[in-house]
Amino acid sequence: MIRRKKGEVRLKDGLTAESINESLISRSRAAIFIIRDGQVEFANEATSGIFGYSPDEIVSAPAEKFLTLETAVKIFGTDTVSPRQPGECNSLELTVLHKNGEKIPVEAEVAVIDYNGSPSTLAIIHHGAERKKLDEQLKEGLEKLKKSFGTLIEALNKVVEARDPYTGGHQRRVANLARAIAVELGLPNEEVDSLSLAAMVHDIGKIAVPSEILNKPGSLSQSEWGLVKNHAQIGYDLLKDVEFPWPVANIIYQHHERLDGSGYPLGLKAGEIRREARILAVADVVEAMSSLRPYREPIGLEMALGEIEKNKSRLYDASSVEACRWLFREKGYKLNADKEDI
Ligand SMILES: [Fe+2]
Repeated sequence: MIRRKKGEVRLKDGLTAESINESLISRSRAAIFIIRDGQVEFANEATSGIFGYSPDEIVSAPAEKFLTLETAVKIFGTDTVSPRQPGECNSLELTVLHKNGEKIPVEAEVAVIDYNGSPSTLAIIHHGAERKKLDEQLKEGLEKLKKSFGTLIEALNKVVEARDPYTGGHQRRVANLARAIAVELGLPNEEVDSLSLAAMVHDIGKIAVPSEILNKPGSLSQSEWGLVKNHAQIGYDLLKDVEFPWPVANIIYQHHERLDGSGYPLGLKAGEIRREARILAVADVVEAMSSLRPYREPIGLEMALGEIEKNKSRLYDASSVEACRWLFREKGYKLNADKEDI
C-alpha cells in the first residue's frame, strides 16, 4: 500500500477518497464525480448546481439517476469516444438529467482513473455553450421584466400622489431614505431593491380612501381614521396577485406594524415583521413627521429623530433607527424626492 501525506493528490498512483475531499476538487465550480461499476462513489458540491441533486443524494446512487442512456453509453463504453484505459481522457458533449426531469446539455471531460485501487470513471462536467447562452437570455429577460415593473411602480406612485397633494413626493422621499438605511445596514442588493420599490408605492391603498378624508384639515373621526388605517390592507390586496420579482405586497402590508404588536393591520410583533418593513416604518415616520400635513405644520426632523430614538426597540427596529440617525447626524443626509435608479 502506498502511504501518502495528508491531502496529497497523486494522479499517477491513483486517488484516495481522503485526498479528493481535501483537494480543490470538492470546491470546483464544475461538477465532478467518480463512478465505479455504475454507481457514484464521489460527487462534489457543484453537482447540485448542474443536476439539482446534493452530493448526498448522488453518492451511492446508480448513475442512471442523472445520466440519459445515450450519455451513459458515451461515458462508459460501446462507442469509440469513451475512454478505455487509465490515463485516457476525452472531451464530450452530453445530455444529463436534472432532478426536475429537464434534460440539460453539458460539456464533460471524462477519464478512466484508479480510484481506491479500482478502475473508475472520473467526469468533470460544466454547462455547455448552449446552456450558457440560454442562461444569459434568461438573465436579460429578467432584467427587462424588472425594468418594466419599475416603470409600473413609477406610474402607480403618480396615481397615489395625484390624489393626495400633501403627500406629494412623500413616497419617493421615503423610498430614498429607506434605501439609504438598507445600504447602511449592508442588506443584499435584492432586498434593497425590494424595499425601494415597495416604499415607492407603500401608500397605494390610499386610492381607496376618499380624498376629502385624506385632505381634511384638523383631526379625523374614529370611522374616518379607520378608513385611513385600512390602506395597508388595501395596498396588499391590490398588489398581492401581481407576480413581482420582489415581495412588494408583503412589505406594503407590514409598513405600519410595530415591534410591540401595537401596529396594524395584523398587530405583528418584532420577528414576525419582515426586515424591509421594519426599515420602511422608520423611514416613513421620519419623513412624515418632517413634512407638512393637512392637519398640522411639519413637526421637524429633530423631533422625528427624537421620536424614533425614544421608541427604539419598543416600536422601531433598533438597527434601522441607529442607521437612520447616523445618516442624518454623521453623513449629512437630506430628505429628497430626487429620482434614484431603482
Ligand atoms: Fe402608510
